[in-house]
Order: sequence, then structure tokens, then C-alpha cells
Amino acid sequence: MSATLQTLFFSPTHSSRRIALALGDGLAAALGMPQKNRDLTFPPDREQSLDCGPDDILLFAFPVYAGRVPQVLEAPLSRLRGNGAVAVIAAVYGNRDYDDALLEAADLLTRQGFVVAAAGAFIAEHSVAPRVGAGRPDAQDMTVLADFARRATAKIAAGNPAPVSVKGRRPYKERIPAADVRPKTMDSCSKCMICVAGCPMNVISREDPAVVATGCIRCRACVKFCPQEAKFFDDAGTAKIREMLESKCLARREPELFL
Ligand SMILES: Cc1cc2nc3c(=O)[nH]c(=O)nc-3n(C[C@H](O)[C@H](O)[C@H](O)COP(=O)(O)O)c2cc1C
Ligand code: SF4
Ligand code: SF4
Repeated sequence: MSATLQTLFFSPTHSSRRIALALGDGLAAALGMPQKNRDLTFPPDREQSLDCGPDDILLFAFPVYAGRVPQVLEAPLSRLRGNGAVAVIAAVYGNRDYDDALLEAADLLTRQGFVVAAAGAFIAEHSVAPRVGAGRPDAQDMTVLADFARRATAKIAAGNPAPVSVKGRRPYKERIPAADVRPKTMDSCSKCMICVAGCPMNVISREDPAVVATGCIRCRACVKFCPQEAKFFDDAGTAKIREMLESKCLARREPELFL
């Protein structure tokens, strides 16, 4: 098979997907490579393995969760085989901070046999507090993404790209054990099943979408895409985080590029 740009993303509320596809189109066009998209958002796709050839390029985009790579991606990423292929990483965060997520992703891909040649941290609407990062990525972000694709292409096309050094610290930010918090559902639910289809953890009941089983990762896809605005979180932890985000994280942050 000819060398391919493999675009890989996990994106419950679609911002990382948007950034992955824009960046993927830019890279594929500039490198003159065919592109294959792989969406890791849903369970059957997360179970596939991916073996890259040395001439393939991997583009990996993911949302930052609590300053880290989402834990649900640990197993799927451990099934990647880089075989010396070049990788480009996009960490997408909600205008608070990406902490150690980009470094963690770069370490993970390096361990799997990739050469991480370019990486960036990009801003999107915060799925927990949509007023934070509202409207991002916007036209200005898209211009930065196009520039990033151009610069990454130039580095890759020059041959033997050096591994990039990114911001972050080891040991990574500690993972706080997730409490069993699940969304609630108002009586206005029309049983349209949009939330059932969009849940990356398959925890919303097909029989009754108001019933949510254990295993929710609080990605907010069900809240964002419910046409009745019937899904919501009312736990004290969520309220506290939203308040912190809305009081401290409204000032615009800009993408950071590492090449
Ligand atoms: C559980 C959870 C944790 C998050 N943690 C962070 C964080 O540490 N820093 C930040 O800036 N944004 C954080 N966000 C916001 C997401 O990174 C942001 O909304 C991202 O665009 C969501 O990606 P998606 O649209 O591809 O699902 C978090 C969101 C969720 C749901
Ligand atoms: S998306 Fe909203 S209206 Fe549709 S089934 Fe889910 S909770 Fe009900
Ligand atoms: S139930 Fe939890 S995991 Fe499923 S879509 Fe809603 S927030 Fe995400």
C-alpha cells in the first residue's frame, strides 16, 4: 500500500475532530499523500490495531481531560505500531491549560515506535463550561492550523525530522480517581436516541435513555447534542469546576506550536 496520512482522533463533542480534519486536509494536500481517517470515539473502532509503515505519517488529535490524555485512549494507543513512521500531534483543550497532555501523548507515541516531529496545543470550547473558549476554534485558529500544517510539511519533506521537544512535566499531573457521576435527564426527553448513538462509552440505555449505567467519562456529548436540552449534570463537583473556569479562564489563550 502507498504511504498514507493516517488521521486518528477521539472526539465526543467534535472539536478535536474538526481540528484533526482541518489539519489532516492541510497535511495531505501539502505532502501529496492519500489520507485515511480513523475515529476512535466509539468502542468498536477503539478495539482495532493500526500498523504504520515507515513512510506513513500519523496525525493524532485528542481532547485534554484534566491535563492528561483521556484514560480511555490508553488501550487503543498501546495497539499502535509506528515502525519508525513520523507523527504529528494536536492536543485540544478548553482554554484552561493542557498541562502535561502533549508531553504524555508524545511519550506514548514515541514508545509505540513513532518519531514525533511536530506537535501543537489548540483551543476549543470547553465542554464543561461552553462560555470558556466559546466559538473556538475560530477563523484565527484555522489560519494558525494551516500555518502549522505548512511548517510541519516542510520539516517532514526535508527528511529525517528530529523528534520535537514539547511543554509538560514528568511525572505527569496525577489522575484523580473519577467519582461515579452520571448525567440526569429531564421529562422533556423525546427518546430520539441521539444521546445513545453519541455516547462513546455505550452507557445510555436504549430501552430508556434516562437511565445511564456506570462508566460515564463525563465527556458531555449527550448534554451538547440533546435537541431538547434534557441531559444535564447537577453534581456539586461539576458546579465548582464550571464556576472556577468561568471566573479564571475566560481570557483568550493562543495555540502553541512545537516544531
Ligand atoms: C472530563 C473533561 C476534562 C477536561 N479537562 C480539561 C483540562 O484539563 N483543561 C482544559 O483546558 N480543558 C479541559 N476540558 C475541555 C476539553 O478539553 C475541550 O472541551 C475539548 O475541546 C473537548 O474535545 P472534543 O470536542 O473533541 O470532545 C475537559 C473536558 C472534559 C469533558
Ligand atoms: S438526546 Fe435528549 S431527547 Fe434524545 S433521547 Fe437523549 S436525552 Fe432524550
Ligand atoms: S453518558 Fe457520560 S460518557 Fe456518555 S455521552 Fe454522556 S457524558 Fe459522555
